[in-house]
Amino acid sequence: MGTAMWADWVALFIRWFHVIAGIAWIGASFYFIWLDNNLRQPPQWKKDKGIKGDLWAVHGGGFYEVAKYEYGPEQIPKTLHWFKWEAYATWLSGMLLLGWVYYMGAEAYLIDPAVMSMPASQAVMMGLGFIFVGLFIYELACRSPLAKSATLFAIFLVLFLSLSSWLATQWFSGRGAYIHVGALIGTIMAGNVFFNIIPSQKKLVQAVTDKQAINPEWGAGAKLRSVHNNYLTLPIIFLMISNHYPMTYQHPQSWLVLVAIAIVSAWIRHFFNLRHIGIFRPSVLVTGALGMLLIAIWVSQPQTKPQVTQPVEVSIPENETVMALMQQHCANCHADAPTDDIFVVAPLGIKLDSWPQIVQWAPRIHQRVVVTKDMPFLNKTGMTDQEREIIAQWYEHEVKLNK
Ligand code: HEC
Repeated sequence: MGTAMWADWVALFIRWFHVIAGIAWIGASFYFIWLDNNLRQPPQWKKDKGIKGDLWAVHGGGFYEVAKYEYGPEQIPKTLHWFKWEAYATWLSGMLLLGWVYYMGAEAYLIDPAVMSMPASQAVMMGLGFIFVGLFIYELACRSPLAKSATLFAIFLVLFLSLSSWLATQWFSGRGAYIHVGALIGTIMAGNVFFNIIPSQKKLVQAVTDKQAINPEWGAGAKLRSVHNNYLTLPIIFLMISNHYPMTYQHPQSWLVLVAIAIVSAWIRHFFNLRHIGIFRPSVLVTGALGMLLIAIWVSQPQTKPQVTQPVEVSIPENETVMALMQQHCANCHADAPTDDIFVVAPLGIKLDSWPQIVQWAPRIHQRVVVTKDMPFLNKTGMTDQEREIIAQWYEHEVKLNK
C-alpha cells in the first residue's frame, strides 16, 4: 500500500472523529438552547430552594427532572459537568483535517493557478493568516461599542462574512475558499467558548463557591457569544458539506452564493429560536425556504459561454474523439491504475478509460466538464474551452438523443 493510500486512511479517521465531535458539540448546544427555552415556573417548594425554572422530560425509558437555579446551588456539587471538550475536540480535529487534506495536499486542493498561483508554503501561510486574522477582527469587534447593539453587530457580521468570503475566493481554489470560510467560522465559534463562555462560567462557579454576588456582565458577554454560535450552526454545517457540491463553490460568484446561503440558513435557524420561546411564526420558515429556492434557481442559471477564440467543430463529435479526450485529460486519475502523483486510486471509483463507464457517467461528466468546469480536477491536465465544447456537443447530440 502506497503512502498516498495511508494518507487517505488517516484523513478518513480524522474526518470521522471531527464529525462525531461536531455532532456532540452542536447537539449539546441545541439541547441546552431547547432546555433554556422550555423551562417552566417551578412549584413553590422548588422556588424556595432558589430554582427559577423547571422541566420534565421522558427519554430512553426514564423520567428526567431538570432544574435551573436563579443564582446557584448552596454548594458546588462534587461532580459538575462542563461542556467544553466537544467544542475543543471539534476545532482541533478540524484544524488537523485542514492541515492534512488542504495543506499537505495544497497543490491538489488549495491552490488553483487560474485564481492565484503560488508555492504551497505561501498558500498555507495565507490560509492560516486568513483564519487567525479573521478571529482577531471578530474578537476586536466583540469588545467594541458595536457589540452594544444587536442589529449593528448583525450588520457587521454580514459585511465581515462577505468580505472574508470574497477575499478567500481571490486567493484559493473554490473548495479551498469555502473550507477556509468554514474554518474561520468554526474558529470564531470555538474561540467564543474558549475565550468567553468558559471563563465567565468559571467566574460564576467561583462566585457561588465564595458566596459572592454574580456580576450580570459575565452572563451578558457569554450570552452574546452563544447567540452568535447559535446562528452560525446551520451555515457552518453547510460549509462542512459544501465540498460535495461544486455548483456552489465553482460558481463565478461563489462568494456571494456562500453569503446568500449563510444568511438564509441563519434566518431559518431564527424560526426555531422563536418557536422555542413559544412564538410560532411560519412566515420565517416559508420565506427561508423561498430564499433557498431562489438561490438554487439563480445558481443553476446557465452561465454565459466563454469566448471561444478558435472556430468550434460543428460536426457531431465521434465517440473516438471523446474517448481520446478522456484518455488525455481524465484517465491519469480516473483509471484502474492512475498515474497521477496524488490520486493513486480512481476518485470515487470512477474509471474513465472504459467506454461503458464514460457512457454511464455521461451526465456527471457533462455537469463537471461543461457546467461547473471543475473537472479535470483544478484543470491539472489543461483542458481547453474548445475541448469542453466538444464534450458539450457530444452530450447534446449523442448521449441525450440516444436515451
Ligand atoms: C487530477 C486528478 C483528476 C483528473 C485529471 C480528473 N478528475 Fe474527476 N475527480 C477527481 C477527484 C479527486 C474527484 C472526487 C472529488 C470530487 O467529487 O470533487 C473526481 C470526481 C469526478 C466525478 C464524480 C463526481 C460527481 O459529480 O458525481 C466525475 C464525473 C469526474 N470526476 C469526471 C472527470 C472528467 C470527465 C475528467 C476529465 C475531463 C476528470 N474527472 C479528470 C480527480 C480528477
